[in-house]
Amino acid sequence: MKFRAIMGALCAAGLMCGVSAVQAAESIEVLHWWTSGGESKAVGVLKDDMTKQGYTWKDFAVAGGAGAAAMTALKTQVISGNAPSAAQIKGPLIQDWASQGVLVPIDSAAADWKKNLPPEIDKIMHADGHYVAAPFSVHRVNWLYINKAALDKAGGKVPTTWPEFFAVADKMKAAGIQPIAMGGQPWQDLTLWEDVVLSQGAGFYKKALVDLDEKTLTSDQMVGVFDTVRKIQGYFDAGRTGRDWNLATAMVINGKAGMQFMGDWAKGEFANANKKAGSDYVCAAVPGTEKSYTFNVDSFVFFQQKGEKTATPGQLALAKTIMSPEFQEQFSLNKGSIPVRLGVSMAKFDDCAKKSYADEQVAIKSGGYVPSLAHGMAQPDAAAGAISDVVTKFMNSQQDSKTAVAALAKAAKTK
Ligand code: BGC
Repeated sequence: MKFRAIMGALCAAGLMCGVSAVQAAESIEVLHWWTSGGESKAVGVLKDDMTKQGYTWKDFAVAGGAGAAAMTALKTQVISGNAPSAAQIKGPLIQDWASQGVLVPIDSAAADWKKNLPPEIDKIMHADGHYVAAPFSVHRVNWLYINKAALDKAGGKVPTTWPEFFAVADKMKAAGIQPIAMGGQPWQDLTLWEDVVLSQGAGFYKKALVDLDEKTLTSDQMVGVFDTVRKIQGYFDAGRTGRDWNLATAMVINGKAGMQFMGDWAKGEFANANKKAGSDYVCAAVPGTEKSYTFNVDSFVFFQQKGEKTATPGQLALAKTIMSPEFQEQFSLNKGSIPVRLGVSMAKFDDCAKKSYADEQVAIKSGGYVPSLAHGMAQPDAAAGAISDVVTKFMNSQQDSKTAVAALAKAAKTK
């Protein structure tokens, strides 16, 4: 009895979580939306690590890129008193859930996190002065993936400006290649649209999507953003309605299409298909965004279990594992991201990840490091959802850019 109590206390303090009778009994239910090939491999690393530590992993995966369906499932679970042990939540939503009084602090697992996280990200993991979320990795959203053989066949070069991009797209079209693979959910529309906003400069992006500055949102430059999106749409195929992001990535992997705008979780799909960066495909910053970096940091929050206001040993072990240097490396190698923990070696990573890391350091110093709106990092749900509706309406109708801009300014006021 005494031994069990001591082991439990040590583990609760995040100090020693070896296999023991105490933990063997704990089953950890984890809600996430990592269901594509690369995503499943990445979350599988965590499952294996936790299983090795003696915990039972109860997978609660809800398919659907960017997590809209997962968030609906989570609300239902919490309302019905069945909150999972941990759930994939990020950005301002972390604070929203904390303010509902349903999370547990994980400070005892996070003793060395402050010095090992970029300050912008450390802040996001907190609510009311306590750590309530554990960060996985940094995804860069503003990437363009290009099939290398398609690029060579078309005789194009990697575009760094929109005119260069349209020139490549035209060449691909002329060579009989579908220029752009695009999926069909609102978050994918928003991902492309925010890329084009970012191509106007990180300052413009910040004013528009972080500060929601009305002048910027209604500017002629913003009308131009919608015009560019409309032009890009001219290179989509007819079958995008309802298409998942990873199926669009597969089109680029298989050479059925030339390019895709997508965050670097797409790289997890290329890696899973044994495709090599540089020789099989090219990763480039979206035209005009070379110096900027839209960041998207996945994290888990931890829910009160059976009304207990403190974390269980399993929850603390999970948080500790997520931030351990070994896990950070393995997870990102599969996920396409880069470790969020500072000081993890990049030696085993491919050229795209190394570029992501180098560009991140430059962007942090130059003020080009900005939160992704499409991936829940820039605004609370209400405003992000309203803006997303405007963009999706525009992209799925013949609405003109000026009308979209007027709707955008209104949507930004949604509280
Ligand atoms: C998440 C990624 C995920 C992607 C597609 C993003 O919002 O941050 O982890 O791979 O959605 O599902």
